[in-house]
Amino acid sequence: MRIAVLNGPNLNLLGTREPAVYGVISLAEIEAHVSEVGTELGIQVAFAQFNHEGDMIDAIHALGGRHAAPGVAPDLREKADAALVNAGAWTHTSLALRDALTGVALPFVEVHLSNIYAREPERRTSLLAPAARAVLCGFGAAGYELALRGLVAALRESRA
Ligand code: DQA
Repeated sequence: MRIAVLNGPNLNLLGTREPAVYGVISLAEIEAHVSEVGTELGIQVAFAQFNHEGDMIDAIHALGGRHAAPGVAPDLREKADAALVNAGAWTHTSLALRDALTGVALPFVEVHLSNIYAREPERRTSLLAPAARAVLCGFGAAGYELALRGLVAALRESRA
């Protein structure tokens, strides 16, 4: 099984970005931990972070098995079974991202460090959620591990 962990804009700043909201753990530390959990679960995990929406859309197309655009990183070109997606602020604005995920039928869990439903009104709507297999928010960095475990268990159950 192969899972992609996709992070959207500004999440490369984790660790120093608004630590009271997002914590002090860096994205590299989150990815290292999720990678260990992936090994424990016996699955492959690929990671990517995007500050440009079109790049994330190109990667989703490739992960869904469509021909990869030239800029897509080699480890994202191979088809994935599913994804964890923290789309950052694009969660609240981008129908294009949801269309990309549904367009290539890539199952995904929506993840957020913060509880977006307890924040400013403009963060309380997710355009991705209606297409998500599950949504997990508010557990900080631990949410990535929890979402990965839940997603893998759900995929294994659906295949059993
Ligand atoms: C976030 C929540 C979004 O509203 C925000 O724009 C982010 C991070 C989270 O993980 O809590 O960039 O997705």
